[in-house]
This record gives sequence, structure tokens and C-alpha cells, in this order.
Amino acid sequence: MDFQLPILAPSILAADFTQLGKDINDCIEGGVTWIHCDIMDGHFVPNISYGPSIVKAAKKSAPEAFMDVHLMIEDPDKYVEDYINAGADLISVHYEACPHLHRSIQNIKKHGAMAGVVVNPATSLYNIEPILEYVDLVLIMSVNPGFGGQSFIESSYDKLRELADLREAGDHSFLIEIDGGVSLKNIEAVAEAGADILVAGSSVFSAEDITARVKELTDKLQ
Ligand code: DX5
Ligand code: ZN
Repeated sequence: MDFQLPILAPSILAADFTQLGKDINDCIEGGVTWIHCDIMDGHFVPNISYGPSIVKAAKKSAPEAFMDVHLMIEDPDKYVEDYINAGADLISVHYEACPHLHRSIQNIKKHGAMAGVVVNPATSLYNIEPILEYVDLVLIMSVNPGFGGQSFIESSYDKLRELADLREAGDHSFLIEIDGGVSLKNIEAVAEAGADILVAGSSVFSAEDITARVKELTDKLQ
């Protein structure tokens, strides 16, 4: 699948759930093509967010959007089919939650979605080196997973550059996604450091005019 990189990926965790469809369409209005869905189970991360029914509703609001589902849950293999049936185009699972990561990645692909691996801020990229040839995307957490509205962890810049080097050295083709604390202030530097997909939750949905904010953020990516 070809993407016009870099891409802004609003995380609907920060949307107004009393008007989720409208918030999503305000993003689409601003040119968004990729929606990030944060699934949290209250075990792998301290927070509980939402399940497949919200992903399905989001997909219904924007059928043409690419649905990127980030599973911050224990035993993600158990739920892959539910999220694909709900409309997920890509499912990313945490290295820290998958004792059999190679099998988890194979399982996602077997069910027809693109597969991503996620690393937490304290996890070294060298832990996922053996899986890089099998994944479509690597997601670097630039905050500790579980909540929106946190500050960008500065060491993520070097981690992005390191991952871009690993991709080049291994002649891999995975996308690089960054997740957490991306804002108007740092979005250019984050893209410059190597991010292809930039997740933004609070910096998008806290705005009075979501469409205008999406355009402001994407203008900085041109
Ligand atoms: C955190 C999630 C992020 C978060 C992004 O666990 O994975 O996607 O919602 O929200 P902001 O952009 O507000 O940090
Ligand atoms: Zn996320």
C-alpha cells in the first residue's frame, strides 16, 4: 500500500465521545486519511479506553480512512480478529505484551491486516531487531502508554534516528510511527528525525476548530 508520507494520525482517544462522528469528520475535512485507535485494557496499561464497537463506529464515520489500531492490552492475539472485523487495516502489538511476537505478527497478517510492533520508552530497539523483516510498521512510544496529553520524551528523537538507520541497514520497508506528545511545537522536528506516521491526540482534539488544527499540523509536515 502506498502512502503520501509523512502522515498525521489523529488518536481518537482524545476526541469528544459525545460527538465522535463529528470530530472524526472534522479531521477528514482537514485532509486526514489515517485514524489511530488506542485500545487499553486496564492491565497492560493502567487505563481502560474502548473496544471493537468504537473502532467499528469510527470506521462507519469515515469509511475511506485507514484504521490503525494500537493494542495496549495483555494477550492481544485473542482479540486480533475482533478488531479486523471491526475495520482495522493495521494492528500493532506491544513487544512487551507478546512472549511469542513472531507468531503474533504472523497471526495479524494471516487475518488480512498490516502488522506493527510497538516499543515502550524503556525498551531497546535491539529487542525487536529479529522481527523487523516481518513487520509493516514499528511504533515508537514517545510517552509511557496509557494516557493522552503527556509530554514528549526527548530521547525519542535519537530512537527515531536509530530505527531509521536499522531500517536502512537491513534494507527493510516498514513504516516508522511515533506516538505521544506530538504537538505544533515539535511536529517538524519529530518528522525530521524520521517519523513517517505521527500520532496526535490532544493537540488535535483540544482545538476549538479541529479542521483548522489538522491543517496547521499537516502544513508543518509539507
Ligand atoms: C498513549 C496512546 C497515544 C496517545 C496520544 O498510550 O498510545 O496514542 O493517545 O495522545 P497525545 O497526542 O495527547 O499524547
Ligand atoms: Zn497510540
